[in-house]
Amino acid sequence: MNQPPKVEVIPAFAVPFGATFLADCGQMNFDLKNLFLSRETDKYKNLTRNSEESDLQFESNFDVFTWENPEVVQLKEFMTAAVLEMIGMVNKYKRSKVAEFDIYCDAWYHITRKGGYFVNHNHPMASWSAVYCIADGVDKDDVGDSGVTRFFHPQTAASTYLDAGNLNMSAAPYSTGHQVFKLQAGQMLIFPSWIYHEVSPYMGNLERVIVAANYWFNHPAMNPQMGPKIYAGKR
Ligand SMILES: [Fe+2]
Repeated sequence: MNQPPKVEVIPAFAVPFGATFLADCGQMNFDLKNLFLSRETDKYKNLTRNSEESDLQFESNFDVFTWENPEVVQLKEFMTAAVLEMIGMVNKYKRSKVAEFDIYCDAWYHITRKGGYFVNHNHPMASWSAVYCIADGVDKDDVGDSGVTRFFHPQTAASTYLDAGNLNMSAAPYSTGHQVFKLQAGQMLIFPSWIYHEVSPYMGNLERVIVAANYWFNHPAMNPQMGPKIYAGKR
């Protein structure tokens, strides 16, 4: 055999993540941080959160994108536009088709102080989720993995046997490790809502402020989950 066989490598189960930055976000981030801190009260707090509760992290209600404050509207429009752009790319839809979607969204914010963290979880009942960093809280006392967002590899058995044949596949899309992001102010991540992730303990001295959002969609002509109505009016 003079030539080795021609082999096509297929990234069969890759998981798409989107990353972007909002340019010139300083004033908006400043205004949002002040707004969120001023509403760190029981009126705006999510009193029904079902995950690990901690006094070191405040979670708001999920209606933040219904607020009409200009800085909230600006962020909502940026995050939604980025999610729609990603949907078009990964589904190979034209923008004109994505523009016809009905858009549903829950959005909330977290204020995290020294020692705060968020345990392993995913975001049920949504197709795409996103996080945007208002304030990263990085200061002189910061340590390497303080406040990182760590996405767990969905193939939990992928690293069961490591040898010379697979040990060096350390780069995406074939890495068997987790994906870790240390969000910077102005940075946004988009990820499939099903993927499990955590936020490691934040060890900075400032407030770390993040907005998170869940998105789900409908298109009148293409939703295969829409069966015949079995209820009309109120149940
Ligand atoms: Fe999350």
